[in-house]
Amino acid sequence: MTKQVILTGLRANNDLHLGNYLGALLPIVDLANSQAGKYQINLFVPDLHSFTTPIDHTKLYRQIIVSLKFFVAAGLDINNKDLFLYRQSFIPAHSELAWILNCFTGFGELTRMTEFKDKSARIGKDHIGVGQFDYPPLMAADILLYDALYVPVGDDQRQHLEFTRTIAERLNNKFGKLFTIPKSTSEQHVFFGNDQGVRVRDLQEPTKKMSKSDETGKGVIFLSDSPTLAKKKIMSATTDSLGRIAYNRAEQPGLTNLIDMLAQMTNKSVGDICKKYVGHAQYGPLKSELADAIAEFLSKFQSKLTKVDEKSLIRKLQVSEEAMNKQANLKLIKIQQAVGLRK
Ligand code: TYM
Repeated sequence: MTKQVILTGLRANNDLHLGNYLGALLPIVDLANSQAGKYQINLFVPDLHSFTTPIDHTKLYRQIIVSLKFFVAAGLDINNKDLFLYRQSFIPAHSELAWILNCFTGFGELTRMTEFKDKSARIGKDHIGVGQFDYPPLMAADILLYDALYVPVGDDQRQHLEFTRTIAERLNNKFGKLFTIPKSTSEQHVFFGNDQGVRVRDLQEPTKKMSKSDETGKGVIFLSDSPTLAKKKIMSATTDSLGRIAYNRAEQPGLTNLIDMLAQMTNKSVGDICKKYVGHAQYGPLKSELADAIAEFLSKFQSKLTKVDEKSLIRKLQVSEEAMNKQANLKLIKIQQAVGLRK
């Protein structure tokens, strides 16, 4: 019997940060380890998505390998036979399916995507790339080619996941059952043991998400930051002057973000963290506990990173890319037949 597929992708535009780790990497690594043998796990680098925003192309190829090493340092067991580790552009079926999906996607649908709206408002319609506009159909292709059921992503990608469900249903209605519909966002949360989507906020501007494109890097904990630097960033995180800890995103977004992060880093519930800190006048102890938890995590992570064997990683990539090309091409041919491109 074929196994259900859990799939996610992380772009390699810069070193990964704590938001990437908590939003996507940790859930898939945890599942791969705890349910080994039960699911097919697809973890890939969407390298074609990398230049939907401007990047240094001379660094991209190496940055992809670095990202893959980060996955291993995060606890991924590359000897797991059900794990497939690959680069999107090494499997041309992704781009081919993206084109097909494009032709069934409304211009208005993509214009309404929050990420596109925000970025085009910021940099202007003449400057935003068509790649940024057209990024959801490629992401849908990444998911639908493998009939993935579960897709751990941070809350910022929820709309793209919903688009994937919509386009899959649209094509199924027109051409018969071509695609497996990924589970709804709420079912995904239940499956990954969350009561809501994960969204780690910027430490300096806690109303914004923590993001690779932060120019100063002060609000972002990169997985390559030294434990000392990470501690400093937490201790100088923006809070407020109310002088009383509450879990209230509207009024105390900075503190609420720190509480959420502490819960995730220590694998405790937000309720448990609130019991300990809510009502206290001093913010320092909460910050210190989080700073210590992150510093400890980073030193373990970075020590594992130095031990990742690049040669076995490259072998795993080659084997996975060969296997995924076969799987993706079998799916693509069915789609091509359905739309009239093949007999
Ligand atoms: P990307 O590369 O921007 O981010 C990788 C993953 O990290 C999550 N993430 C966050 N989670 C919580 N808090 C944050 N501050 C935070 N920042 C980022 C993202 O939600 C994501 O899960 N379009 C995707 C990549 C992609 C993909 C796919 C994902 C392409 N194809 C198919 C899943 C399935 C993206 O740009 O993620």
